[in-house]
Amino acid sequence: MRLPPSIRKLPIGRIAHGLCSIASGAMAEREPQPISVEQMYANGPLTELQIDELLDESLDPRGPDFLFEVASDLGVDASSRVLDIGSGNGRHVIELARRFRCRTTGVEFVWDNLSSGFPDLEDLRANEPEVGGMIGLAQGSITALPFRDGTFDLVWSRDMLIHIAYLRDALAECRRVLRPGGAMVVFQMFATPWLEPGDAERLWPALAAVEANTDPDRFEEIVGEAGLEVERREELRSEWREFLEESGPGKTSRQLLHVARLLRDEERFRELLGDVDYRASVADRLWGVYQMIGKLSPRVFVLKPRA
Ligand SMILES: C[S@@+](CC[C@H](N)C(=O)[O-])C[C@H]1O[C@@H](n2cnc3c(N)ncnc32)[C@H](O)[C@@H]1O
Repeated sequence: MRLPPSIRKLPIGRIAHGLCSIASGAMAEREPQPISVEQMYANGPLTELQIDELLDESLDPRGPDFLFEVASDLGVDASSRVLDIGSGNGRHVIELARRFRCRTTGVEFVWDNLSSGFPDLEDLRANEPEVGGMIGLAQGSITALPFRDGTFDLVWSRDMLIHIAYLRDALAECRRVLRPGGAMVVFQMFATPWLEPGDAERLWPALAAVEANTDPDRFEEIVGEAGLEVERREELRSEWREFLEESGPGKTSRQLLHVARLLRDEERFRELLGDVDYRASVADRLWGVYQMIGKLSPRVFVLKPRA
């Protein structure tokens, strides 16, 4: 059977092999021999329909709740004191207090981000006063935390270390405010070998990201230099993104469509959004898309103070 290009067979084995090399952090291997026209259009073990059916099956990805499971595995409970560093609008501060009934403090650097969560916090204090009463929010920086040594059982750092220029000092500051036996949960985005230099140039400056922090090996070296050690490491690759596609309104498909529109009508969107927000909007949407196609891969770490 000869299939037209739109329904041609996919080289499943080679794709799976390529992704293995990404997960291991090794350089992406060069594909071996080019596939000939005869090979590509010849019948393979599965029809295109069968391949689609196979790929329609979920691989049971973990979703963002996984981070709370990690905190739960660490024994966070009502007696714990938790710090969410880089807490943004405070949504995880609220969720941590709600789930674990623990005293939770959010520290956020940018006032606009911090204050955008105040209406939700007011609602919470009105409707769930017992949870609202366990929450504190403050403006501050990970580089100089306004807390005494050994204050917290858990430091929660979700998707913020990418912004930090003095990462070693910042992690050492987190270690300082952890009580002995405490732990830090980190969610952090990393580049894979599939992220090309041009992709990186488009992404990191537009997102106020420090490129050096996106190298997973370097990140772990700095963790060690800050007096912490990795107790648990989970590479998530596209799992959260798949989860959000499968369980919700298709967040990343929407981002893909949005980036297409941003690129095709660049002049109009640049004028409407301004240069900073235009570049950030493109990069923010690529952030999602790149996770789906293996150029970015988030990892979750549990870090403990080294004795
Ligand atoms: C991608 S957002 C993540 C927000 C939140 N943790 C979440 O997961 O939704 C990164 C946050 O880190 C904050 N941030 C950047 N530099 C910081 C610093 N030096 N100290 C504290 N927060 C910082 C940013 O303002 C932003 O709110």
